Amino acid sequence: MVILETECQISAAMMLPAVLVFLLATSALGIPDWWKTSVLYQIYPRSYSDSDGDGNGDIRGIINHLPYIKSLGVGVVWLSPIYSSPWQDMGYDISNFKDVHPKYGTLDDVKELIDKSHQQGMKVFMDFVPNHSSDQHPWFNASRYSVGDAKDYYVWVNPKGYLGGKPIPPNNWLSNFGGSAWEYDEVRKQYYLHEFGPYQPDLNYRNPKLVEQMKDVLRFWFNLGIDGFRCDTVPHLVEDSSFKDEPFLPGCTDPNNRGCLDHIYTENQPETYDVLKQFDEMIQKEYNSTRYLVLEVYASLDKVIKYYQQQSSPFNFFLITDFKRDSTAVELAKVVHDYLQSIPSGMWPNWVVGNHDQSRVGTRMGEDLIDSMNMLILLLPGTAVTFQGEEIGMTDAYIRKDQVLDSVGRDPQRSPVQWDSTKNGGFSTGDKTWLPLNSNYWRVNVKAETAKPKSHLSVYKKTLELRRNLKNPTDFKVNTYGKWVAYFKRDSETESYFYVINLNDREEMIPTSVIGASPTVYIASENAGYSEGNKISEYLVLPPRSSVVLLAPNKMLNKLLRSA
Ligand code: NOJ
Ligand code: MG
Repeated sequence: MVILETECQISAAMMLPAVLVFLLATSALGIPDWWKTSVLYQIYPRSYSDSDGDGNGDIRGIINHLPYIKSLGVGVVWLSPIYSSPWQDMGYDISNFKDVHPKYGTLDDVKELIDKSHQQGMKVFMDFVPNHSSDQHPWFNASRYSVGDAKDYYVWVNPKGYLGGKPIPPNNWLSNFGGSAWEYDEVRKQYYLHEFGPYQPDLNYRNPKLVEQMKDVLRFWFNLGIDGFRCDTVPHLVEDSSFKDEPFLPGCTDPNNRGCLDHIYTENQPETYDVLKQFDEMIQKEYNSTRYLVLEVYASLDKVIKYYQQQSSPFNFFLITDFKRDSTAVELAKVVHDYLQSIPSGMWPNWVVGNHDQSRVGTRMGEDLIDSMNMLILLLPGTAVTFQGEEIGMTDAYIRKDQVLDSVGRDPQRSPVQWDSTKNGGFSTGDKTWLPLNSNYWRVNVKAETAKPKSHLSVYKKTLELRRNLKNPTDFKVNTYGKWVAYFKRDSETESYFYVINLNDREEMIPTSVIGASPTVYIASENAGYSEGNKISEYLVLPPRSSVVLLAPNKMLNKLLRSA
């Protein structure tokens, strides 16, 4: 059962079946209020804004755009990795956990960004990458040569044997980026584990000294003023120490396909949950519960839910993994309900539809669903997460073969932010940008959308503004009308709002009696064919893949609900 903060407590017995009931949460749990009420805005620093014309976004570029970020209404800014790094996995390969890549700026710039964000009432998260370091990290070199404490900071295992003098990897584990998860080191004459690229050796969380080092990394940034972290790839933190082969999933036999293996030894191990508990306790004890962690976990719902702790939530990726362009409204309602119903008492939901690892919403779901998806996550109860550029409806850029940087194809969604229609979309004055921009920047850009009365950006901002006035629901349910229409209600102090979405590829007519009021259009997606203020009488007519927020006075609604 989901528990959210509300003003009153209502009895479960009074509720209709399948309605989620939200009870009064005790504030003892220490989830900061700002986490609950905020929208988390993900900045991918190399693509945000380039202040010095070298073709790479930088911290100064973010500072310059703080007024824009503030104008969106978001409350927490999360920076993807800005650490020292050889950039073999775009900063998720860190060579110094306590310093900044010179292309991004200096520690002083970070401090300035934190202070200026705080002055504007916004919190700042960094990316914490606990599973691995870069192979260029001094620890790794020391470890290869078995020098000092770092000797045991990585996962080293002897070869299983030798074939014709050549070492054989310890087991069948595979890397998330393809190939074996083991790399033989000629110096140490052992294999090291890398669950991602061979340049990203896995850290050894069975070593308490390493755990302490990583806690120190958190402390370093907390002490600089960072409010929390998005924690990278946490299910992989610890592996089973028996190093046994992972079994094949039924019907799957390809030994080179990671999807064929059942990851019973490399993911979501009990020890992984223990390490996270230590981080959680540290925040409670040393930072008086004022900081927060959000965890990157792609796993089945039961496993995801187990990651909830007092100071941390796992990301909810189910609107990415289980909700697709072809999904029906019934499926949408199920994804939302299954998630909300599983959240442990007192814990807080969140909603993610995009990040730097996923094809953008406009490309994955179709441009027609851009507004609807933004409206959906902003209006569902809980913290919403927006990847930079989604607010203006950016789509994946075309990357020519000679421009490819990422080995697993994630460049298109990482293209620079489109600020205006000038050279490089206003992202950089340089002659070259690190990744090409989407050529649609002449049309899709912040400046053009700010000037237009109606745009993806205007819909985004208006929905976020509405979100601020909404009370936490005392009950919440996504309803469906037929196979393709979904709707739900949210209340402010004085009004009731209905979000209605048509996921069909043709027009749908929804009798207003279904919703229970004769409402007014409050927000309409660009393709909904309605203007704000339009009165709806008998039928709401929604074009394919469009949505509206309807406004109905509370009183009328409550009367209708009572008579239902
Ligand atoms: C998840 C990050 O989001 C992704 O970009 C990265 O490649 C892997 N973790 C490895 O750190
Ligand atoms: Mg730059």
